[in-house]
Amino acid sequence: MTRRIADLLRHGQPHEIVTVQGWVRTKREQKEFSFVEVNDGSSMAGLQAVVSQDLPNYAETMRRVSTGASVEITGTLVESPAKGQRIELRAQSITVFGEADAETYPLQKKRHSFEFLRDIAHLRSRTNTLGAVFRVRNAAATAIHNFFQERGFLWMHTPIISASDCEGAGEMFTVTGFDLAKVPLTPDQKVDYSQDFFGKPAYLTVSGQLEAEIMAMAFANVYTFGPTFRAENSNTSRHLAEFWMVEPEMAFCNLQGDMELAEAFLKYVFKFVLETCPEDMQFFNDRIDQSVLETADNIINNEFARVTYTDAIALLEQSGKQFTYPVEWGLDMQSEHERYLAEEYFKKPTIVTDYPAKIKAFYMRLNDDEKTVAAMDVLAPKIGEIIGGSQREERLDVLERRLQEVGLDPAPYWWYLDLRRYGTVPHAGFGLGFERLVQFMTGMGNIRDVIPFPRAPQEVEF
Ligand code: 4AD
Ligand code: MG
Repeated sequence: MTRRIADLLRHGQPHEIVTVQGWVRTKREQKEFSFVEVNDGSSMAGLQAVVSQDLPNYAETMRRVSTGASVEITGTLVESPAKGQRIELRAQSITVFGEADAETYPLQKKRHSFEFLRDIAHLRSRTNTLGAVFRVRNAAATAIHNFFQERGFLWMHTPIISASDCEGAGEMFTVTGFDLAKVPLTPDQKVDYSQDFFGKPAYLTVSGQLEAEIMAMAFANVYTFGPTFRAENSNTSRHLAEFWMVEPEMAFCNLQGDMELAEAFLKYVFKFVLETCPEDMQFFNDRIDQSVLETADNIINNEFARVTYTDAIALLEQSGKQFTYPVEWGLDMQSEHERYLAEEYFKKPTIVTDYPAKIKAFYMRLNDDEKTVAAMDVLAPKIGEIIGGSQREERLDVLERRLQEVGLDPAPYWWYLDLRRYGTVPHAGFGLGFERLVQFMTGMGNIRDVIPFPRAPQEVEF
């Protein structure tokens, strides 16, 4: 019977006859036999197969078995005399599906830089580090669904093609059916979107929030989990043009409830991943960032710090640090400021609340001081902002005023305003950047290395 290697390493018993399928990581040829390590992606560790010279067709088979080749091996499990592994496989037969020419196959034994691996993203998942990243990513995604499903939240599939700019930042990719060589123009030389596929401008969504708000007004608690897109030209280790976002939205909820959910959520996901992927997390701690396990422990067992924006600005002013962007009330915090707060001052995830209305999106609920909004960002050490959320403006008149103040035409938001006309309630939600979470968990330095196929400025392959 074909078995996954993770299962065999844990539960396989001596004398069992099993078949494994996978890719060869290493081969060591000795006089009378060879060692072949096979990995099938189910775990960091591979299974060592011992291939004796007595195997029919030994020489020819061993010529074809090299690093990267795909194989099926059937044999008997035996206790391993080697250190660090409980069992190994005495091979009785080997089938080679596909060879991998050692002259050209790029993933040989040596350690490769992540930059080099990015150029061969079609092969990099076969390395230890990227393998661990994508197993952790999968576990985190599972944890996210479990967390919300256990609490009765409905998963809502919000659209990828959208007509509205949720964040009002104008960082959207246009979706068009036009032949760009012959774009129809209006008499005053503007693009005539009435002739386009949707009859008006359409974009790749920057957030599923506005649609999630619609659904929260029917189901009370919902969440989205899907790809979002930003055409911001940020070439940093924390920005992608396509990233996955998790966005819970809760009716009958205020900022306090929003913060509590965000904290419980992060604790849950970290705990689940530690329990599900202990070897991978140990690997990150040993090889990538020695604070990974301590960070996870800290997240799970300690309360997050909470501070208002106004107090946070005071802390930055008192820090005695020279920041590239000078600190004053009204500043849109940059990652240098966020990292000072979370990494140096509080030394743990920090929730900053009540930001100035001027630097936040139109939908955030205006506080009684009329200067700040009921917003909250969760800042993580080393990453900076990982979650952005708020209580939403549920009062029709205030929302109309806010749209006007930020210079947005209210007409296209008629349906959003309707939600405030019919059965409006206090409600709140947040957005978690999924890749930033995976970066935070694994200690991976570059966000391009925690998504299988990164899209960033000047970067699109496949
Ligand atoms: O703070 P943002 O822009 O908030 C929203 O989009 C809200 N509509 C969310 C909500 O309240 N439902 O984005 C949310 C999170 C950020 O905190 C960050 O983690 C991540 O999305 N993010 C990015 N991740 C990778 N690459 C980018 N270019 C990102 N932009 C935002
Ligand atoms: Mg934000």
